[in-house]
Amino acid sequence: MSAQVTYVSASGEEMTFEGEAGDSVMAVAVRNGLSTIVAECGGSMSCSTCHVFVDEKDLALFDPISEVEDEMLDTTAVDREPNSRLSCQLVLREDCAVRVTTPETQM
Ligand code: FES
Repeated sequence: MSAQVTYVSASGEEMTFEGEAGDSVMAVAVRNGLSTIVAECGGSMSCSTCHVFVDEKDLALFDPISEVEDEMLDTTAVDREPNSRLSCQLVLREDCAVRVTTPETQM
């Protein structure tokens, strides 16, 4: 296993997919057809439709939030929380298993 991402929907359904180190949490979702991450801009940080809530225990596995990402998180369809991130900015490391919850809607 290189990396594993578990996506929990707003209603509590879980799906787990494998990814590679260097993949983003958004890319793994899109590759597997997960509809709860829309990713309209394809990862260029201009849509905020890839919003996720990262499990508190996993937040430290990712680079800190950038200024641009922070601004974009103010435009999400569902209000941001302290653990909100844009999943296109969450790059997986080797041998990590992370868990994120997707908001009720991205649009
Ligand atoms: S995919 Fe558009 S901001 Fe992440």
